Amino acid sequence: MVPLLMRSRSKTARQRLRGKTGFTFCNQGTFSIHARGCIAIINSSYCGSVDSVKPVFAATSHLQRKGIAARCDSRQAMHFLFPSDPLRTKRPDEFYAEEVAAVRSAGFNLSVFSFEKFQAGSFQAFPPLPVATVIYRGWMLSRREYERFAAAIVGAGATPFTDTKSYLLAHHLPNWYPAIAELTPETRIFPVDTDLAAVLRSLSWPEYFIKDYVKSLKTSIGSRISTPEQAETVAAEMRCFRGTIEGGGCVRRVESFLPETEQRYFVLDGVPHAASGHVPTSVENCARRITSRFFSVDVVKRVDGVLRVVEIGDGQVSDLVGWKTEQFLYLFSRFAQQN
Ligand SMILES: Nc1ncnc2c1ncn2[C@@H]1O[C@H](COP(=O)(O)OP(=O)(O)OP(=O)(O)O)[C@@H](O)[C@H]1O
Ligand SMILES: [Mg+2]
Repeated sequence: MVPLLMRSRSKTARQRLRGKTGFTFCNQGTFSIHARGCIAIINSSYCGSVDSVKPVFAATSHLQRKGIAARCDSRQAMHFLFPSDPLRTKRPDEFYAEEVAAVRSAGFNLSVFSFEKFQAGSFQAFPPLPVATVIYRGWMLSRREYERFAAAIVGAGATPFTDTKSYLLAHHLPNWYPAIAELTPETRIFPVDTDLAAVLRSLSWPEYFIKDYVKSLKTSIGSRISTPEQAETVAAEMRCFRGTIEGGGCVRRVESFLPETEQRYFVLDGVPHAASGHVPTSVENCARRITSRFFSVDVVKRVDGVLRVVEIGDGQVSDLVGWKTEQFLYLFSRFAQQN
């Protein structure tokens, strides 16, 4: 456990933590230093006012002068946010229960919010968001929804780990495609009202993979088609099953991939990570070229043995395909330690 120097104006916080190993309480303007010499600031308005932070810096340099290492537990500066159960809005959605447990046991704090109420126009996190950087883990959000979501986080006094521009950079194919065009199947992008059958006739490829800016069609005839006329069915089914076409249409050249070879990688703050084995060069290239702070990269082996990027996705809304939850959380623990 990290020994703590506490300066809390919150009586309840003091009462809650009193007696736990390693905590030392200080009243406003005074500090005592824990024997093991590490510092964390816990304050009901954490880093909220210059006055509350200044004396801690003073205490830190005092420690440094004494040659004692001081560090802040930056886990408190990161806060996770999950969708709640639709009916019991103070509990996490069952789908994320395992990940929520892993977040807690990794020492991070979290809040939940009703995704349904957010979609209906109101955002309320429980417990309320602290002054911290917020990492969302949850359902995909459209461009408009994410803009509103990021603004709501800022409105609550916190900061989104991923701003709207970064979210869309990884979430929308036309944004990431130009950066890695030679690593992924050739793709043409079209506005939503395009006559796709006419487009496909002019391309005259042997097969086509059709999706919108975000998702393929998983039902009906699927996304992989061989005649231009089928494109209208794909578009119509997407509208029917998903309610909308997000952004526009993407027509991708079909490549022959080996079954069961797709793997998901995560890039956090420029560093690529693998669930198992090493990180391939193509993922390192993605990490260098795509500036979003947190995204996933799906890589598959083509029949000729070349690794191809199938898709980039925003890390907050990517499933943990092939990753253990603890392993995923370890990325953030390491990140928190290093920042
Ligand atoms: N250009 C392509 N050529 C051949 N197969 C493809 C191509 N693009 C995608 N696929 C196959 O279709 C699958 C789904 O594609 P993609 O990931 O782009 O859509 P998605 O809707 O995000 O699917 P998922 O939710 O499974 O990730 C890929 O895992 C891959 O096996
Ligand atoms: Mg995918």
